Amino acid sequence: MDTITWPQKTRELHSNHFESTVWNDFQFRDDDIIIGTYAKSGTTWIQQIISQLIFNGQVGLPVAEMSPWLDLRVPPAHVKLEGLEAQTHRRFVKTHLPIDALVYSPKAKYIYIARDGRDVLWSLYNHHSTANEKWYGALNDTPGLVGPPIGKPNDSILEYYHQWLDQDGFPWWSFWENIKSWWDQRHLPNMMLLNFASLKKDLAGEIRGIANFLDISIDEAQWNNILEHCSFDYMKENATASVPLGGIFWEGGAKTFIHKGENGRWRDVLSEEDAQKYEQLAEEKLGTACAHWLKTGEI
Ligand code: A3P
Repeated sequence: MDTITWPQKTRELHSNHFESTVWNDFQFRDDDIIIGTYAKSGTTWIQQIISQLIFNGQVGLPVAEMSPWLDLRVPPAHVKLEGLEAQTHRRFVKTHLPIDALVYSPKAKYIYIARDGRDVLWSLYNHHSTANEKWYGALNDTPGLVGPPIGKPNDSILEYYHQWLDQDGFPWWSFWENIKSWWDQRHLPNMMLLNFASLKKDLAGEIRGIANFLDISIDEAQWNNILEHCSFDYMKENATASVPLGGIFWEGGAKTFIHKGENGRWRDVLSEEDAQKYEQLAEEKLGTACAHWLKTGEI
């Protein structure tokens, strides 16, 4: 008897970025892989790793095109759904939704990667402050915008950080609910939780763990290539293939998106008190165990 209580969708999310109803029309296949993250937490890295595992270390794969962000409002839902329906390889799809706004399939495998919120914020600031007019146009001037358009970021990263904490993820979406919603379901048999810090510490071990979770046996003859193609330097050099739309939305292109790949850059800017504010909120919103995992990768 099946005693698992599977997550159920309890709400839809609509915003300048999200259109969650698209998942209601997605036809799952048994071997689908869903990659979840809050954003700026290593999504593209996991997409690259999975592409390398599925395609056995091949070069030149159009990873961003293969693995669309399904719940992004643009391009329209039918374009992404038709593209995914036409794929004949094992599919790997990206989402930034909290788990309760997704359709969760017992058939698919889910990989959720998280990153310390201060590192996420530093990465978000780079993402937002280098976004060009094409990015604002796609989000604010296309049909389906719900809520206020997204504006320019504050000039000061410190103010951007406080605003994000004080206004529950503004101008993006709630960080805490995203992390907590996935953390709370971590015991599901088809879910794997990952942490950016752990990938930084032991990329080879983490890739082997992902392969194992996805039931992909690694071709040892290709192992060094797989590893190299998932390194920061390789991904930065070849960023156009893995970054959405080849990076056309950012000043400086795709290399701007694969920016520094390091945690802790906030340490030079945040005072002890600023950093503590994050830690206290993490404890309060997530609880001790989840906050510890988020910060360290240790469960
Ligand atoms: P930074 O902006 O801190 O450099 P996402 O894909 O979820 O938007 O996350 C983007 C972040 O992941 C960026 O962080 C990017 O540099 C980092 N990243 C992507 N590939 C990486 C890799 N191979 N090694 C380390 N960091 C990587």
